[in-house]
Amino acid sequence: DWTSDMFIDITVAELKEKIGSDKVVMGLSGGVDSSVAATLIHRAIGDNLTCVFVDNGLLRKNEYEEVLESYKTLGLNVIGVDAKERFYVALAGISEPEAKRKAIGRVFIEVFDDEAHKIDGVKWLGQGTIYPDVIESVSVKGPSATIKSHHNVGGLPDFMKLSVIEPLNTLFKDEVREVGRALEIPEAIIGRHPFPGPGLAIRILGDITAEKAKTLQEVDYIFIQGLKTHGLYDQVWQAGAILLPIQSVGVMGDERTYEKVVALRAVGSVDGMTADWIHLPYEFLGKMSNEIINRVKGVNRVVYDISSKPPATIEWE
Ligand code: XMP
Repeated sequence: DWTSDMFIDITVAELKEKIGSDKVVMGLSGGVDSSVAATLIHRAIGDNLTCVFVDNGLLRKNEYEEVLESYKTLGLNVIGVDAKERFYVALAGISEPEAKRKAIGRVFIEVFDDEAHKIDGVKWLGQGTIYPDVIESVSVKGPSATIKSHHNVGGLPDFMKLSVIEPLNTLFKDEVREVGRALEIPEAIIGRHPFPGPGLAIRILGDITAEKAKTLQEVDYIFIQGLKTHGLYDQVWQAGAILLPIQSVGVMGDERTYEKVVALRAVGSVDGMTADWIHLPYEFLGKMSNEIINRVKGVNRVVYDISSKPPATIEWE
């Protein structure tokens, strides 16, 4: 019978044995997986683990500051890097989803590598890879179905010359959460919805600009806060907003408007491999629509995504 305490004991012992007195560097994303992986490694080797948290300009509103603060509270040795401009420059003019992922993956590795080089004698790279990531990445390499290349798996350039440690690569998401709770990681991190590595980049359809990122952050913030204050957040596996690359006609007072459309998405799932759209109450959706259109400049229409996976995917890109 699997228990999280057993998993923790065995994993911490294995990590100690494997890593010894070597140094480990690890990128944190703010998500459950990397936070739990880092806490496990920290338990095994303490401050020989250095964590790097990069602001790629495509995180949720306020996420960078809040998450950095909770990592410090957890006692992790964490370096925050503001690389927003570097990412926006690299993404300028790119609309194709896989090209966005590649650009983000490349810049992330550059930024991360700069930080890793500052740590003397680092030998290992910690990663929060979980079992479903392993499966989807394998299928990307398969002959027929290219799904989506998850940038946080594999593909490391040789120059980094670090061996990879992935303490969670046999676990599903719900098991990762159990382990996280047993490690006493705050519920604000453990109960957090999954968020993709490329962040809002794959929710801004078409090309990415700092202005679009700001608009989507505001929309997403209203929706996520709304889910929380209406007691719906924990009934949803993942939620977010998508900025569509079209404009539609609206009317504000006596004025005709011609502005952006956003889609809201909320799904139920166990591991992200399949997902059902959630039947959010109409009243709640109505409230969100009003709030978003009234408060976010440049948006005059809100739609709700009623597609399940398959045949749709959770993200639009
Ligand atoms: P899809 O859109 O493939 O998403 O149904 C399944 C889950 O994976 C997340 N996702 C990603 N996560 N890098 C990530 O780290 C990516 O490129 C990526 N693409 C999708 C998505 O948010 C959902 O939880």
